Amino acid sequence: MSLEQAKQVAAYRAVDEYVMNNSVFGVGSGSTVVYAVQRLAERVETENLKVTCVPTSFQAKQLILKHNLTLGELDTNPRIDVTIDGADEVDANMTLIKGGGGCLLQEKIVASCSNKMIVIADYTKDSSKLGDRYKKGIPIEVVPMAYVPIKNKVIALFGGDVKLRSAIAKAGPVVTDNGNFILDWLFTNQDLDWDDVNKTIKMIPGVVETGLFVKMCQKAYFGQPEGNVIERS
Ligand code: A5P
Repeated sequence: MSLEQAKQVAAYRAVDEYVMNNSVFGVGSGSTVVYAVQRLAERVETENLKVTCVPTSFQAKQLILKHNLTLGELDTNPRIDVTIDGADEVDANMTLIKGGGGCLLQEKIVASCSNKMIVIADYTKDSSKLGDRYKKGIPIEVVPMAYVPIKNKVIALFGGDVKLRSAIAKAGPVVTDNGNFILDWLFTNQDLDWDDVNKTIKMIPGVVETGLFVKMCQKAYFGQPEGNVIERS
């Protein structure tokens, strides 16, 4: 079974178990969520479900529109029943690294407004300690004018290295959906207290959000190479 199929089985399982009629659904970002939206669209069609979808990114909004699902926003739907999203890595304590696709800020806002946050992923995201599997570091969304001092402060506080994320199809940095830059913090100490790290980095002026999701996710579904799904909560 391919990695894509592993993503799909996890996504389908989560949508089948968590999305209900007359509910508000938070739509995550990334390649795994594409399968979740596909499955949701099938269920809306065949079961005539009423579901309002709140996106976590430009990509998520486009997916909702493409599948003719009902688009919502936090102004009118400040409470979300369940958000289903991908992750770059999930550790044994259900702490997540997110933001590989640069959408961490809106993903965290939507997750924070959700009664439940469920992660869908292939087996390569299932990890014991952060950094065991995902080697690109922890994303930090920052206000552009402050990226150099923030980079220096993070290194002084916690060590490692920090890179300004640059775009592939454009010369220069990645600019997020919110007009900010992304720093990728390549940490070397895997035994840090991630709750403390998250709070400390967030206090640095100019930091908008970190890709550390601590105590936010209730359950993760990992699609396996054999086609089964392993659940963790
Ligand atoms: C988007 O910024 C990310 O947080 C994604 O949710 C995460 O990178 C997982 O993406 P994939 O489903 O593409 O692995």
